[in-house]
Amino acid sequence: MKVGIIGSGGREHAICQSLIKSSKISKIFCFPGNAGTSEIAENIDLDLEKFEKLKEFIIKNNIELIVIGPEKLLVEGLVDYLEKFNIKVFGPNKKASQLEGSKIFTKKLCEKFNIPTAKFGIFDSKNSAQKFIQNSNFPIVIKADNLASGKGVYICNNYNDGVVAIDEIFNGKFGKARNLLIEEFLNGEEMSFFTIHDGKNFKCFGTAQDHKRVLEGDKGKNTGGMGAYSPSRLINEELEKKIIDKIIKPTLKGLREIGSSYKGFLYTGLMIIDNEPYLIEYNVRMGDPECQTILPRLLTDLNEIFIACCEENLKNIKIEWSNEKSLCIVICSKGYPDNFEKYVEIKNLNKIKLKKNEFVFHAGTSKKRERIFAIGGRVLNFITLSKDFGIARETIIGNITKLNWDGGFYRKDIGHKVIK
Ligand code: AMP
Ligand code: GLY
Repeated sequence: MKVGIIGSGGREHAICQSLIKSSKISKIFCFPGNAGTSEIAENIDLDLEKFEKLKEFIIKNNIELIVIGPEKLLVEGLVDYLEKFNIKVFGPNKKASQLEGSKIFTKKLCEKFNIPTAKFGIFDSKNSAQKFIQNSNFPIVIKADNLASGKGVYICNNYNDGVVAIDEIFNGKFGKARNLLIEEFLNGEEMSFFTIHDGKNFKCFGTAQDHKRVLEGDKGKNTGGMGAYSPSRLINEELEKKIIDKIIKPTLKGLREIGSSYKGFLYTGLMIIDNEPYLIEYNVRMGDPECQTILPRLLTDLNEIFIACCEENLKNIKIEWSNEKSLCIVICSKGYPDNFEKYVEIKNLNKIKLKKNEFVFHAGTSKKRERIFAIGGRVLNFITLSKDFGIARETIIGNITKLNWDGGFYRKDIGHKVIK
């Protein structure tokens, strides 16, 4: 069968690499993919905002399954659109995607179902928000309601930081803002918790710890993710049960009440305080770089899992994992997350001979006449599986040293909480 993957990041290359191992798959199309996916799939450059063009391509090429990586098209309703034409799509519909598309939607759901989360208020004017923070304790968290690629969150240490955040959000930095959210600051350790859903049932799909800050020691600006390790050091049976019972099941109940089920990956972003989970945010997709970190540990055929999800048959699939630990380091273009140069050539990729349990997934790369260029902020993901996080990191750093690419930088301390 033929499959299509939408997206161009490390997450989508990792999904592509997992799917290509399935004996049932004859061909994969990536929309638009990157230099890495072009080695194992056909990259197709279409205007993805034009759903009709995509639908025509899918039907003309007999693509039997579409997997959507990034959130934007989910929030815009691509799943609902394609399903009208009887196309199998792995991903949540527009209603369910509000879990990521509107922070206020999720907070109201938490309130209704007693889901543990930071205390919050919703404000519809600069004045009312400013007045509130005059009498607040700091730090405090101020968030834009809508999708902001992880950038619409301000941790404010004093009143003046708060005024800047409120101004920027209401002045439209993240799109037209009717409301913003002010939240209590939760002081704990973060964990990414993944589940996979078929509309009726769900299964756990691993945990990971992302490293969002650009500099070593978790300092500097927030990024899309500089590296991750899996499993998280925080997970245990009791905590997993609490996350499912107190957070995920009530959320699914809330969705059912508004007439929606959930199909696809669900990424639950948590703050863990004394083995208690608090919901920070939902993402209606796999994490990036968590996906690149988790998928190499998967032993079950990913295509079978996706098909089972589209056919409400997940309960009959046993999802199996390797026991090894996984670590991922992301190489970024110098200057990221601010301005960086594009079209810098990456020369030595073919000098890296990957051993079993070592992987390189591309992100912002493009191939022109057999040469590979960096075109994005996050460029390459290096992953190694090992019994030991420390050995995994050493192996990766050895591979990155062989690459010797002077257009990029990376954090050498990924996994510092689990590596002595
Ligand atoms: P979000 O986009 O909601 O995940 O927020 C981005 C990051 O801000 C999270 O990964 C946390 O590190 C931090 N954050 C968000 N909300 C809170 C909160 N209530 N307390 C502490 N940190 C937070
Ligand atoms: N790793 C963070 C994210 O995917 O949003």
